[in-house]
Amino acid sequence: MTSAISLFSPVEADLHLLAENLKQLVGARHPILYAAAEHLFGAGGKRLRPAIVLLISRATMPDEDITPKHRRLAEITEMIHTASLVHDDVIDDSEVRRGVPTVHSSFGNRVAVLAGDFLFAQSSWYLANLDNLAVVKLLSEVIMNLAEGEIQQGLNRFDTTLTIDSYLEKSYNKTASLIANSSKAAGILSGVSAEMVANLYSYGRHIGLAFQVVDDILDFTGSSDALGKPAASDLKSGNLTAPVLYALEEKPYLETLIEREFAQDEDLEQAIGLVKDSRGIDRSRELAAHHAKQAVENLVDLPPSQPREALIELADYVLSRVY
Ligand code: IPE
Ligand code: IPE
Ligand code: MG
Ligand code: MG
Repeated sequence: MTSAISLFSPVEADLHLLAENLKQLVGARHPILYAAAEHLFGAGGKRLRPAIVLLISRATMPDEDITPKHRRLAEITEMIHTASLVHDDVIDDSEVRRGVPTVHSSFGNRVAVLAGDFLFAQSSWYLANLDNLAVVKLLSEVIMNLAEGEIQQGLNRFDTTLTIDSYLEKSYNKTASLIANSSKAAGILSGVSAEMVANLYSYGRHIGLAFQVVDDILDFTGSSDALGKPAASDLKSGNLTAPVLYALEEKPYLETLIEREFAQDEDLEQAIGLVKDSRGIDRSRELAAHHAKQAVENLVDLPPSQPREALIELADYVLSRVY
């Protein structure tokens, strides 16, 4: 499969190999896991995270080929991401992901919880086998952050006093931590300076925050067909994201609707209308653009190369999804 995103072209062949390997790595153990893996890794994920890991690997190894450890890191990163999605879809009771039915809607919650656990466990095992303690520490913290982010989100449902800062902290845990720490790990595997390692972390953190804000905008503006997953679902389940938090500053009635958890007919439709009628979406775009810009500033010290260009353009790609 060629990737949907042309700016991944410097690592197109790498991503191809990755897709094959992922199915193999997860597949061998059990028929149900094999079915889940086929379904997950064969479906239309954007492979953004492994692409970033591979682009950073290539950008930090300008004179040599990337190593099997870089490749394995990219695979582990996608495996952790996919595990988090399998669990996220159980929590959100979502029917569709990557344009196909979710694991829990095809095989039931029990299998989905176990399949997610298995993917996390297996990613830890492959991680340990990289034999690099610094990298093991970074990626195990990510797995902790992912669970913490889901817990924070669950505890704050329908809470109209949520601040943008807490929302960003949750978004770091659920989304940016994986991109930041896997970017950093790729630099460590290439043996770059401590300063560059810190810059790569910061690049990933800001890209991740921009990406989550954009995903949260698309939940209001996108169609389920285009997204390959249900749209208009965050507000309904009480997840108050950037567009809503900004809209609350302008529309006091929105607070009433959220606080009664959309108990009356048309409450949800009205609330969505209020968000769209406010500056919430525009201000969220500005927030995403701010983080995308910050991300790119961390790449100034990388030597010029095609992969570096792609990493810069990736910031624009993330934003282009909502422009
Ligand atoms: C979905 O991530 C979860 C978020 C962090 C918003 P992606 O949009 O990268 O999902 P896939 O991998 O392409 O399906
Ligand atoms: C983050 O965001 C998903 C995970 C990292 C598990 P969302 O909860 O917004 O993801 P979607 O919208 O379901 O893909
Ligand atoms: Mg979700
Ligand atoms: Mg979302």
